[in-house]
Amino acid sequence: MSDRSSLLKMKMSALALSAMLIPLLASRAAFAQPSPVPAPAVPGEALAFDHNKGNCLTCHVIKGGDAPGNVGPELSDMKARYPDRNELAAIIYDETKRNPLTVMPPFGRNLILTDREIQAIIDFLYTR
Ligand code: HEC
Repeated sequence: MSDRSSLLKMKMSALALSAMLIPLLASRAAFAQPSPVPAPAVPGEALAFDHNKGNCLTCHVIKGGDAPGNVGPELSDMKARYPDRNELAAIIYDETKRNPLTVMPPFGRNLILTDREIQAIIDFLYTR
């Protein structure tokens, strides 16, 4: 065997070894982090108040939100008034189903909010 080819073999096995080790080390690093209960990427309150996402304050008074509009009703006592999450999710997903003339944007149908984001907003509304 020539020196060149054994050098090449050594290089290739070093490469193979690092290809095996790097993901192993990376996954160990990931496991080293404490893993709390998975929370939504953005919490519901931020999504509800964000002008580029829910923007609910444009039309609804929500406790804790600044400078709300009053095009829609105040969102309060949500858990008592809407014990069924699915009902609330349906309103946020597409209120035109209940009221074809509503000015409330169909957040789910228009892909402004994902289902997960709608669920996070419901979690938040249940605290109001
Ligand atoms: C452009 C104005 C507008 C925006 C923005 C808006 N809504 Fe509405 N919403 C309304 C109106 C008006 C109603 C009254 C019912 C109707 O029009 O059908 C309503 C009704 C509701 C209801 C039923 C209220 C009740 O008292 O029964 C809920 C719940 C609701 N909206 C949640 C939200 C959430 C959550 C957001 C933000 C993700 C939001 N809305 C954003 C206008 C809006």
